[in-house]
Amino acid sequence: ALADHYDHPVPIAVIGGTGLSKIEGFEPVASLDITTPWGKPSAPIQIVEHKGAAFAFLARHGLYHQLAPHEVPSRANMAALRHIGVRCVIAFSAVGSLQEHIRPMDFVLPDQVIDRTKGVRPFTFFEGGLVGHVGFADPFDAKVAKIIKGCAAAMQGEGVTIHDQGTLICMEGPQFSTRAESNVYRSWGGSVINMSALPEAKLAREAELAYQMICMATDYDCWRVGDEDVGVSMVLKYMEANSANAKHLVGAVLDELARPEHADTVQAKHHEGSAVMAVQFM
Ligand code: ADE
Repeated sequence: ALADHYDHPVPIAVIGGTGLSKIEGFEPVASLDITTPWGKPSAPIQIVEHKGAAFAFLARHGLYHQLAPHEVPSRANMAALRHIGVRCVIAFSAVGSLQEHIRPMDFVLPDQVIDRTKGVRPFTFFEGGLVGHVGFADPFDAKVAKIIKGCAAAMQGEGVTIHDQGTLICMEGPQFSTRAESNVYRSWGGSVINMSALPEAKLAREAELAYQMICMATDYDCWRVGDEDVGVSMVLKYMEANSANAKHLVGAVLDELARPEHADTVQAKHHEGSAVMAVQFM
């Protein structure tokens, strides 16, 4: 049986999206059932070990994929990760492509995000007497992105393509976009679209965590003339087809991030002092 506690801080976490529920070769050592002041995370946090380093893994949509994007308890997720010592979050997500050159199965490291959620998701830790504001001009972590890019470049021989920048549109869902919306997002310069980056990235920033999303394209949404419109079966088909690459990439990224030369990138308090963190729990 897995331990229900882990006695060392775990600085690096992966949030798995649709289709990424575990990382092969990483040995599960503990399963942490954590309750935060914002409730319980999407799932127990799994602690896995590999080459002497420990990593945290959290299934964003729950162990049975029972949580729709607008139901994901992002505040509990980020608070629980911070509570166990996490400083750096690699967040995985299936996305629709808004650009011809980003093909299904390609990976994208977004450097910008446009918020098209509708304000129905709890999106801040700063309320109820705790007032804070954080800078969010660059929502993702460029240093972590560079490390991920290096890992993906080493996989090029395996047919892996990665785009090292892009603007991610995060929409509310759970319905996909209309064709008019999809074309508006393209006119805004959107590269890819999902339903999961926000408020996760905002809460990571408030909690002083480095945060980089790895997107994996599963469809061309509904803008591409002559192409089939996005549907669940299309997303699942490409997730499935690319899951070995996704697991391989995430495994390589974790091994690389755990190297001593990246300790500063991983361990530093990110954006410290830009927020008021008076919350004792974290
Ligand atoms: N996730 C995967 N494909 C998507 C799309 N086309 N729109 C929104 N979220 C997605």
